[in-house]
Amino acid sequence: MKQKILVTGGAGYIGSHTVVELQQSGFEVIIVDNLSNSQKSVINSIEKITGIKPGFEELDLCDSVKLESFLKKHPDIKGIIHFAAYKAVGESVNNPLKYYRNNLVSLINLLEIAKKEEIDVNFVFSSSCTVYGEPDKLPVDENAPVKKAMSPYGNTKQIAEEILYDTVQSERNLKVIALRYFNPIGAHESGLIGELPIGPPDNLVPFITQTAAGIRSQLSVFGNDYNTLDGTCIRDYIYVVDLAKAHVIALKRLLDNRNITPYEVFNLGTGTGNTVLEVIKSFEQVTGNKLNYTITKRRAGDIEKVWADTQRANDILGWTAEKDLLPKKI
Ligand code: UD1
Repeated sequence: MKQKILVTGGAGYIGSHTVVELQQSGFEVIIVDNLSNSQKSVINSIEKITGIKPGFEELDLCDSVKLESFLKKHPDIKGIIHFAAYKAVGESVNNPLKYYRNNLVSLINLLEIAKKEEIDVNFVFSSSCTVYGEPDKLPVDENAPVKKAMSPYGNTKQIAEEILYDTVQSERNLKVIALRYFNPIGAHESGLIGELPIGPPDNLVPFITQTAAGIRSQLSVFGNDYNTLDGTCIRDYIYVVDLAKAHVIALKRLLDNRNITPYEVFNLGTGTGNTVLEVIKSFEQVTGNKLNYTITKRRAGDIEKVWADTQRANDILGWTAEKDLLPKKI
């Protein structure tokens, strides 16, 4: 009997890659997604890759009535991987309440209704390195202080982690692993799923690919006066399939009761930082395409540099990122 896993936001970027890995690891997957930043066709693409159609329900987790009737239909859910959230930093600054409502109400609904329906929740949460702000020490490890969030989006990740931490203290049926992602990039090798934002991308790599494809006329590099080798910001870019695999490992850890405490946190990165210009040069070298880019002013809210200390994920989860940004020497 396959164990049934609920993946919220499973039609989205990281969610869809994780669904593939889950199915390929023998899990039955049911997706809920409100399709606010994803397309339903992703479900068919997942089926093309794995040969298995995941369950799918178009549902907004903020709608507690619909969520309750959904969970009543699936009392046999054994684990939840919660991706569904808004993630555009700039938009969150302009519309904070939209972010607080969506990202926090959905989480609270899930926890409350799962409790009411007496589902044993093995919960993997999609968190972010944004919780570290501008770290005092690099690489940044999980014991680094959580800094005041630079944006409402970042704050929703911090508050969500606190909600989960507090809730596991009182709920014996809840176990949580929060995964703090660095910068996920890339697409499944089949080319059938990838990062497909609706509207102009906020993130670097989809902006690069859409510029190369002629969908955008020019890429802006946000500032070259940072205190880094070439003046552009440094991030830890991690391949999305490596990231997806970490979710399966984290979920199995909870299902097998191998977690040491009921709430655990892991960084997911490669352990290496690259500048924006290195990412561009790498893309140009690998694809042979010249990118039309220009240096513009800094983007508000960007931090200068961050990359992960991955020791805990390596040692305790037994997970390591397999891919890095190629070619190595630029
Ligand atoms: C941000 C969030 C991160 C979140 C992610 C999801 C912070 C500090 N980081 O990551 O937590 O998970 O968004 O959306 O809140 N850049 C350009 N030109 C572009 C786009 C980006 O130069 O058109 C640069 C940025 O200045 C940055 C780097 O590329 O230095 C990466 O940016 P991006 O892909 O947007 O990710 P983060 O801002 O690091």
